[in-house]
Amino acid sequence: MLSVRHVYKSYGKHEVLKDFNMEVKKGEIIGLIGENGAGKSTLLKILTTLLKPSKGEIYLDGQLYRKEYKKIRKEIGYVPQDIALFEDLTVMENMKFFSKLSTVKRTESELKEIIGSVQLTRFDTKVNDLSGGMKRKLNLAVSLIHHPKLLLLDEPTAGIDLKSRIEIGHLLKSLSVDEGKTIIYISHDMNEIEALCDRVVIIGEDDFYQNLLSKNNETALQ
Ligand SMILES: Nc1ncnc2c1ncn2[C@@H]1O[C@H](COP(=O)(O)OP(=O)(O)O)[C@@H](O)[C@H]1O
Ligand SMILES: [Mg+2]
Repeated sequence: MLSVRHVYKSYGKHEVLKDFNMEVKKGEIIGLIGENGAGKSTLLKILTTLLKPSKGEIYLDGQLYRKEYKKIRKEIGYVPQDIALFEDLTVMENMKFFSKLSTVKRTESELKEIIGSVQLTRFDTKVNDLSGGMKRKLNLAVSLIHHPKLLLLDEPTAGIDLKSRIEIGHLLKSLSVDEGKTIIYISHDMNEIEALCDRVVIIGEDDFYQNLLSKNNETALQ
């Protein structure tokens, strides 16, 4: 469903991605790993259409990113590395705000259902008063409002407690198994990646990650 072909990305003279290739099938969960600064977030931003590659082509279900980016955008859910929510608004107010921006209109009960699906129930709590784990869940709920078929998650479990991590893991698994969503997911937690992902893709050339994979993950490698 997603095809990344010979993608390059430079910031000025700094080349971050060099001839990066990846093929992803519908319903797959892909774990992206690599050292800090390897270009993981850059790749994810390119896949959201927020950034353009310096060279190379990307296709989503046969649609060319370069040409169809407006259509493609509607099919993608993105959870950025930094939490992007309104701290002074409640859980439900955040959902309503992002729902207004969305191309697909959702009723209040549908929004409540999405919030429930990430195991958040405190609709009237201000984001300010939520734990880190709950904020991550709400960010994920926001990314699901328009029913995207491709979910791009930049370290969605960074810095949160084990229980929330496991709950988010279960949620992602069921989004892929029950709803056929395709998920690309950056994490530093190798245990989590092995438990969750169908396949691991390494960004960058650090031998450490290459060795880690060949030792621990027989089904891995692109
Ligand atoms: N907007 C930008 N302008 C210039 N350099 C950037 C920008 N964004 C990221 N970089 C640089 O590109 C490299 C890759 O960054 P990033 O994609 O965030 O890596 P990762 O997510 O793997 O840690 C880093 O060296 C970073 O400093
Ligand atoms: Mg990053």
